[in-house]
Amino acid sequence: MRVAIVEGDGIGKEVIPVAVEVLDALDLPIEKVPLELGYGKWEKCGVAIDENDLEILKSCDCVLFGAITTPPDPNYKSVLLTIRKELDMYANIRPIKPLPGLIGVTGKNDFDFVIVRENTEGMYSSIEEIHDDVAYTKRVVSRKGSERIARSACKLAKERKNELTIVHKSNVLKSDTLFLGVCREVAASEGVEYGDMLVDAMAYSLMSYPEMYDVVVTTNLFGDILSDMSAALVGSLGLVPSANIGDKYAFFEPVHGSAPDIAGKGIANPIAAILSMKMMLEWMGYEREAVLVESAVEFSIRENLTTPDLGGSSSTSDVGKVIADHVRNN
Ligand code: NAI
Ligand code: MG
Repeated sequence: MRVAIVEGDGIGKEVIPVAVEVLDALDLPIEKVPLELGYGKWEKCGVAIDENDLEILKSCDCVLFGAITTPPDPNYKSVLLTIRKELDMYANIRPIKPLPGLIGVTGKNDFDFVIVRENTEGMYSSIEEIHDDVAYTKRVVSRKGSERIARSACKLAKERKNELTIVHKSNVLKSDTLFLGVCREVAASEGVEYGDMLVDAMAYSLMSYPEMYDVVVTTNLFGDILSDMSAALVGSLGLVPSANIGDKYAFFEPVHGSAPDIAGKGIANPIAAILSMKMMLEWMGYEREAVLVESAVEFSIRENLTTPDLGGSSSTSDVGKVIADHVRNN
């Protein structure tokens, strides 16, 4: 397996080396291909990603990615959108599960759900028209796009409780009438139990009754917002991992961004990046190793070795070291 390692900017440069340290502790036959993308590259070369970078990414089986700072350039085209589209990684999988011993804003810890976010269209179509006094962004929902994300969500639901919640705003957006209809058809044909929720009501419901949900499927922007919001349920944005999966490639990244407010201080929580690497191990078929990484993360929390976002005083590298050592010794 060949893995592109993209640290990116800000805390990406702090949390990805830690995730790689834990990966190295497993001593697996994985070739790492470091690649610089993002704001740092843009400052040096005027582009955040180029054709050659895309070729390198395509030559790898998957990518472990940190985060990228959005450059202050009106013509800047998002690196992440480019990669997700070029490699056609249409399913963004974001598990929201509390870690033992940690609670988030609601004080609940009896939930375990996954947000499956459509990743290539919706509000992030990049079809935009900008004038001085008005700007348009085209929201694209296709049958093909909806069908394949619904299939991914149903596949996951079948491995779990077989329950799917389709999140949409079809009372206002005609594009979501199509999304809802296609998701219902797919769920019915796959034999998955399904219900649906309007996205605004869903935001309230996820905060109030997160235990009611298993697999949640939704369009691009709604999934982006609901997943950051759901991070508050588990206690920190620094805990939530994600996978972007296509038919050929996959791309693993923490849900958080480059966090310029804490970058360089050595206090970023590396767990989201480590758990993203764990999702990569699962995708590669290293199930046993994935379980080991998760238990090492749980060990660090039990030992109260946590970063300041969780109320602790450990540094990024302290947390990484205890997790890597635990992996090495078990
Ligand atoms: P952010 O996710 O970087 O930070 C939001 C808040 O959460 C900040 O207070 C930050 O300190 C905290 N936080 C995030 N990750 C943390 C961690 N691992 N440990 C402890 N605290 C953590 O979002 P923000 O500030 O809106 O965006 C910063 C930059 O990142 C922007 O340029 C944005 O465009 C970019 N971004 C990039 C993403 C990506 O590359 N996937 C995703 C989201 C934002
Ligand atoms: Mg986001």
